[in-house]
Amino acid sequence: MSLGSMPLANDFLNEEQLNLPEESYSIDICFCTTCGLVQLDYVVPPERLFRNYAYLTGASEPLKTHFAALADEIYQHHHLSQGSFIVDIGSNDGTLLTNFQKMGMHVLGIEPAKNVAQLAISNGIDTVNDFFGLEVAKALVAQHGPAEVITATNVLAHVNDLSDFLNGIDCLMAADGIFVVEVPYLADLIANLEFDTIYHEHLSYFTLSSLNRLFTRFNLNITHASRINVHGGSLRIYGRKSVHRTSQLVDELLKSESDLKLDSLGTYLEFARNIVELDKEIRSLLKSLKASGANIVGYGAPAKGNVLLNYCQIGTDILDYIIDTTPFKQGRYTPGMHIPILPPQQFYENQPDFAFLLAWNYADDILQKETAYRHSGGKFIIPVPIPQVV
Ligand code: TMP
Repeated sequence: MSLGSMPLANDFLNEEQLNLPEESYSIDICFCTTCGLVQLDYVVPPERLFRNYAYLTGASEPLKTHFAALADEIYQHHHLSQGSFIVDIGSNDGTLLTNFQKMGMHVLGIEPAKNVAQLAISNGIDTVNDFFGLEVAKALVAQHGPAEVITATNVLAHVNDLSDFLNGIDCLMAADGIFVVEVPYLADLIANLEFDTIYHEHLSYFTLSSLNRLFTRFNLNITHASRINVHGGSLRIYGRKSVHRTSQLVDELLKSESDLKLDSLGTYLEFARNIVELDKEIRSLLKSLKASGANIVGYGAPAKGNVLLNYCQIGTDILDYIIDTTPFKQGRYTPGMHIPILPPQQFYENQPDFAFLLAWNYADDILQKETAYRHSGGKFIIPVPIPQVV
């Protein structure tokens, strides 16, 4: 399936860049009939994507709560002692590690984006500014010893050389250590038509069975798996080196994936057809609201929002502006469609008729947060899986 050629989803533009040509790359999604992995066929160089990064974990309150709960879960279930060595790969602004640091752990982040790593360091989180792989792992073991816990949340899907990455985990992790991974779950992507989460940064789209196949090759057993409610539905898995009791949930999830035929090409061909229909529905709803004289703004400027805007060709003819809480994005423009991004204050002053929820993965939190807007007549449009006005 192809989403066509579009600019990088996190390449927000400043005023001067608006008149310059934008780099664009195609997004073609492939299903491997041998290993079952769904993946992009073209890899934008990681240096281009991740050395300077617009996304800050700490900009989303629900994610801060989520990562505090993850730290608690790991602490409760794995009997960590004070001073345990915990490494977070793709540590972003240090949001997850802050929780472990408060518990008295020895924490270290690995983060390739210079701007984001610096922010984490200024927040007191020791951070290595690099991409993770076997060479980095060897250096870390030599300096700090093996890690009791390695976390990698929303990073495995971004990794091109999975072999080098997992060899690095094998090298860095203590014999009885745990490797905790969170990845967007392909079963949710397919069921909820979350096509906008498919973009250049996300190279792999995992099921538990494709992860299981991959981990086995690198000496790792998946001992626990659960579905979690972040980024439109994700998987959290625990991997260990030692042969360990496997939770029943692992078998249950593998069985449900087989029932859903996630290993069959037909499932993905149907998904591709559904996306073509969804595009038409989104466009016709927005156009008819606009034609009736309503004003519409975008709510949240996540990377996936840019995929949706570019794929459905939604520009300033439909959305007056987009609001976002991330200071870096405010005053910039969305890649491709060039919609201005403003601070949330603008939304409260204007009280637009409709807010098009590009950050639909936070629908519950945002709808609750915006009760006053809704009580005064404002409505949200949620684009996936079926565009609905609430
Ligand atoms: P994410 O879905 O990749 O976490 O990105 C969510 C984006 O939405 C991020 O730029 C922050 C923004 N956002 C808001 O503007 N308001 C909110 O209430 C929330 C939860 C997120």
